[in-house]
Amino acid sequence: MTRRFKVGIIGCGHIFDAYARLSRVFAPIDIVACADIDQLAANRRASQYGLTSLGVSELLAESGIDAVINLTNPASHATITDAALSAGKHTYSEKPLALAMADAHHLIDLAMRNGLGLAAAPDTFLGGAHQAARGLIDAGRLGTIKAGSAHFMNHGMEAWHPNPFPYYQAGAGPVLDMGPYYVTVLVSLLGPVKRVASLATTFFDEREVTAEGPNQGTIVAVATPTNSQSLIDFHSGAQVHFSTSYDVWGHGHVNPIELHGTEASLMLPDPNYFAGGLEIIDANGRSPIDTQDAPFGIPNWREPRGALIGNYRGLGLADMLDGIANGRAARASGDLALHVLEVLLAIIRSAERGQFIEIESTIERPEPLDIETARRLKAVDAPAEFLSVQ
Ligand SMILES: NC(=O)c1ccc[n+]([C@@H]2O[C@H](COP(=O)([O-])OP(=O)(O)OC[C@H]3O[C@@H](n4cnc5c(N)ncnc54)[C@H](O)[C@@H]3O)[C@@H](O)[C@H]2O)c1
Repeated sequence: MTRRFKVGIIGCGHIFDAYARLSRVFAPIDIVACADIDQLAANRRASQYGLTSLGVSELLAESGIDAVINLTNPASHATITDAALSAGKHTYSEKPLALAMADAHHLIDLAMRNGLGLAAAPDTFLGGAHQAARGLIDAGRLGTIKAGSAHFMNHGMEAWHPNPFPYYQAGAGPVLDMGPYYVTVLVSLLGPVKRVASLATTFFDEREVTAEGPNQGTIVAVATPTNSQSLIDFHSGAQVHFSTSYDVWGHGHVNPIELHGTEASLMLPDPNYFAGGLEIIDANGRSPIDTQDAPFGIPNWREPRGALIGNYRGLGLADMLDGIANGRAARASGDLALHVLEVLLAIIRSAERGQFIEIESTIERPEPLDIETARRLKAVDAPAEFLSVQ
C-alpha cells in the first residue's frame, strides 16, 4: 500500500498547472493547498483545482501538510526552501536549487539536521527516454564513453513570453535556466564532473518584447551572457561540448545530446521532456529505439503549439516521497542538484576568468528507476488517462 503525503504548493504561476494536473498520475502525491506572495494568484489556483488557499506562513504552519513544492521564481528558491525545511516540511524545489553555493550547502545541511527529504527539479532524467539510455549505457552497449555534445540554442523568449525580463538578469540566462536539464541528464548518465572551461558572449545588449501583453514594445536590458560554449570534463574520462544560447536564429544540431563510445554512438532526445526516441549508431549502421514501453515513456501532454510530448513533472517528488516511506534516498536529490548547480556556476565563472574551474562537490549517479518503484509511483495506469491530462 503506497503512503500518500499531503502536499502544499508555494508559487502559483505558469508552471503550477503542470504540477497540479500531473499530480493525479502519482500515488504518493495529494496536493491539498497552495500559497503565493500574491494572494489573488493563490485564490485563483485554489478554486481552479479545489485546493485550500493559504498565506505562505499559514501553509508552512499547517500541521496537516507533510511536504512543500517550491514553484516560486529562482531568486526566491533558497528562501522558500529554507522556510519550508525550517517548518518541518519535506521539500521539492523547481530548478535551480539556489543561486549561490553557500545557500545550496545550507539547504542540504538543514534538511539533514531536521531529518527531512530535499529534492529538486529537473526530474526529466527519470523519464522513459533517458532511463532507456541509462539501461543501454549500463549494459555496455556504447563501450567506454569518451566524448559527447549537448546543445540548447534558440532566440530567447521575448517573442512569446509576456514577462521575459528575469531570463536576461544575472542568476538566469540560458546556463542557469535551461542548463539544469542538460547537465542533470549528463551527470545521471556519466557521473560527476571534474572541471569545466567555457567562453561566453552576448549578441544583443538590449531586446524588445514583441510578445502580446502589457510589456509589448518594452526594451529588456541584458545583464547576463546569452551565448556560451563549454567543455565539461567528467571524472569517468568523458569530455562533452555544451553550448547554450538565447541569441541564435537557428541551428542544425538535430540531436540535443549525443554520446560517443568505443562501441557505439547514442543520440538522445530533448532533456526538457520525459519521452522521446533514441538512436544507436555502430558498425552495423543506425538503429532507432522506441522507448514508449519504459515507465513514464508515453507522450501524454499536448503543448500549446500542438506537439505531443512526455510530461511527468512531479515524478522526482513522487520518488522522494516514496523514498521517505521506504527508507531510501531520493533520485533527484538535493545533493545531485547541488553538484549540477556548481557545474553551471563554474561555466559562468570560467568564461569570466578565462580558465578551467575545478568542481569540488561530487555525487554518485542516482539509482536507475526500477520497474517495481515505477509501478508504486504510478496512480494511473491507462495511457488514455495520461493523454487526457491536457
Ligand atoms: N514556466 C515554465 O515553463 C517552467 C518550466 C519548468 C520549470 N520552471 C521553473 O518553475 C519556477 C516557476 O516558474 P513559473 O514560470 O511558474 O514562474 P511565474 O513567474 O509564472 O510564477 C512564480 C510565482 O511565484 C510567486 N512568488 C515569487 N516569489 C515568491 C515568494 N517569495 N513567496 C511566495 N510566492 C512567490 C510569484 O508571485 C508567482 O506567482 C521557476 O523556477 C522556473 O524556472 C518553469
